[in-house]
Amino acid sequence: MDRLKKAMRIPFAKVPVAANELKYIKEVLESGWLTTAGKAMAFEKNFADAVQARFACAVNSGTAALHLGLEALGVKPGDRVFVPSMTFTSSAEIIRYLQANPVFLDTEYGTNLITPEILQEAINKNPDVRYLIVVHYGGHAARMLSDEQEGILDICKKHRIKILEDAAHAFPARLNNQMVGSLGEVACFSFYANKPITTGEGGMLTTQNEAIAGRVKKMRLHGIDRDVWNRFTGNKPSWEYDVVEAGYKYNMPDVNAAIGLAQLEKAEEFRAERQRVAEYYYEHLTPLKHLIDLPVTHVPFQDHAWHLFPVVLKENAPVSRNKFIEKMAEAGIGTSVHYKPLHRMTYYKNKYQLKASDFPNTEKTWRGNVSLPIFPYMQDDELDYICKTIGKILKY
Ligand SMILES: Cc1ncc(COP(=O)(O)O)c(C=O)c1O
Repeated sequence: MDRLKKAMRIPFAKVPVAANELKYIKEVLESGWLTTAGKAMAFEKNFADAVQARFACAVNSGTAALHLGLEALGVKPGDRVFVPSMTFTSSAEIIRYLQANPVFLDTEYGTNLITPEILQEAINKNPDVRYLIVVHYGGHAARMLSDEQEGILDICKKHRIKILEDAAHAFPARLNNQMVGSLGEVACFSFYANKPITTGEGGMLTTQNEAIAGRVKKMRLHGIDRDVWNRFTGNKPSWEYDVVEAGYKYNMPDVNAAIGLAQLEKAEEFRAERQRVAEYYYEHLTPLKHLIDLPVTHVPFQDHAWHLFPVVLKENAPVSRNKFIEKMAEAGIGTSVHYKPLHRMTYYKNKYQLKASDFPNTEKTWRGNVSLPIFPYMQDDELDYICKTIGKILKY
């Protein structure tokens, strides 16, 4: 093992290069159009097709997509918005961008998802809330539709609650044969460097609603009534445009879209590769289940995007989570934590006077959560080394 330790350096995440990134980037550079133009439009079209959505709007980050999505749903200052505590700060900070207030929710232990039951209880306690941010944590779709009982979509419809899906982790992902991105009204994806497909930095909003798509397209470029591409290819003179709202500067440049187009071509292969890694972990870590909890899934493995493989060290594990991470790093293995919950983050904790005891499942997860390396084309000897190192640290 010591000999192996010297040789092995396994990062937490690694960007897989597809095949056509350089080709498409070259085309962009040669075209002379480096900002938003034909490649961004092609990326939008192909992405919309991939998730079976009517509209897709490319932007320069997942956070920008979430911000534009919430704005287009009509959130106003003072409104309250349900959001899980077990997520990245983007999911909640966008509520503050609009001077609205988050109402943090606990999540289900094992999946880190909001369930229909958790949502129903939150509605009973907060009947005034009209918006919900659903996070498809780790690439696993929340129970939006459910055969046996009411899904999140049904409950929200009944209570006139609008949903914004944070699908930053969830491409490509499915629920009951439907793609995440076409389940609800608005879904937002991230193409940050470690995401299932990347553009370096970037994001995409998908919607079935034409009015929302129109609003997002306007607001992502300063509230101008024509985008730059349209100004230079349309019939009207290029200088002529109107500003109809105070918008933002969130458009995706074509260089990034070129990377995205190439990555999209390989998205299903990357997903299958991630699934292979997850299956390896399930098989080889199950003997340690008295010491660690493995992620729980309620969708078939092929419907999961497998962005993360988060395990939870149980209370009887011989080392703490922090010590475990240290020892994995000493062995050359990168890990991460998804997440330190938002109710423990200074800003949210102080501003909203949040108490850890209101989030029992999230707290149970937080005490022991560690995300293991997962990326396409991980080698079997790397996986073997990771699982053996975990066994050694836990003295199995
Ligand atoms: C759950 C979640 N939501 C939103 C985001 C924001 O995406 P981006 O970094 O592209 O702005 C991330 C990124 O890490 C995320 O993990």
